[in-house]
Amino acid sequence: MVELVSKIQKVSLFLTEYCADAFTYFRYCGISPFQDKTRKLFYKILIEAHALEKGLSLANPRSLFGVAKIRFLMKAVERYDLSFSRLPAEKVCGIFHTYLEMHRALGVENPLLDEMAAFLDRYEKTNAISPDGGLRRLEEEAYDAFPDAARLLVSRHSNRMFAEDFLPRADVEQIVRIAQSAPSQCNRQSAKAYFFQNREDIDRLLKLQAGSAGFSGGVNNLFVITSDLAAWGGAQQRNQAYVDGALFAMNVMLACHAMEVASCPLNLAVTHKVEKSIKQVGGIGLDERLIMMIAVGRPVSRNKLKVARSPRRPLHEILVAKLAGEGGVS
Ligand SMILES: Cc1cc2nc3c(=O)[nH]c(=O)nc-3n(C[C@H](O)[C@H](O)[C@H](O)COP(=O)(O)O)c2cc1C
Repeated sequence: MVELVSKIQKVSLFLTEYCADAFTYFRYCGISPFQDKTRKLFYKILIEAHALEKGLSLANPRSLFGVAKIRFLMKAVERYDLSFSRLPAEKVCGIFHTYLEMHRALGVENPLLDEMAAFLDRYEKTNAISPDGGLRRLEEEAYDAFPDAARLLVSRHSNRMFAEDFLPRADVEQIVRIAQSAPSQCNRQSAKAYFFQNREDIDRLLKLQAGSAGFSGGVNNLFVITSDLAAWGGAQQRNQAYVDGALFAMNVMLACHAMEVASCPLNLAVTHKVEKSIKQVGGIGLDERLIMMIAVGRPVSRNKLKVARSPRRPLHEILVAKLAGEGGVS
């Protein structure tokens, strides 16, 4: 009887915890009518601007790509409250400058480009904006301020221009061996790495992923990272597959970088139906949770390589430190 009650309690906890997840997400997510408008606009601008920045980092961006996004961004930054964070506006301006430079170099003329130039001239002056976005400087001295070991971390970047080579098995094994140094809860090591080089598999997988348009054809080496659900139990652990899986995935990217292999994480923010199709194509068990895909490969040569700058938020926006000696800790 006691066992039965305990089982019922465990099952009800699943229901209440998943309902609470749904409620919390709906209440606070970026499309919730109850979320603060400025915070929503902050993220919306960063997300839309990133699509343009990503476009700039492709091997052959289409002339005048992203017109609707550019129009949205010009309007959005005008109504955005800069006192919340200056990053969205700085990022948009940096990206617009790079976009204009790219089109000037191609000799393209268009009223939209004149509109963007006029917008920059006025908006930057009125708001004292220092543009920060576009393409990333990859020179070594950009990392001079960091200790040697930290340079591996700060020099990693998402790469969307790969050389054609297939990675040899020895390199793939070495990457995964290094990535296995990732910590995991109780050392249960639920994460798994599937690796693909077959063109047909990669095309089908990337079509289902949908975040690699514009560079998927150049991906010849692809990881799919998963986490085994059998490693987890009880409603309290419902999200741990993602925690352990994401730590492992990060380590895969750092291991790649340490071995001079470029990488680009690819989101698997998909419905259950798409998740099932990906598992079918990849021969992945139904009892695994998809974490993310990672496109990998040798980067193209430095003189051809373009990388999105992806500027970071200022430290004070993300570090909340209550330090001893500063009145925060008694
Ligand atoms: C979970 C996750 C999913 C991502 N999905 C995509 C994607 O689908 N397509 C893409 O081009 N980049 C994707 N990225 C790469 C981000 O755009 C990139 O990490 C971000 O702009 C920061 O740039 P950096 O990686 O160069 O530091 C993803 C990154 C993460 C962490």
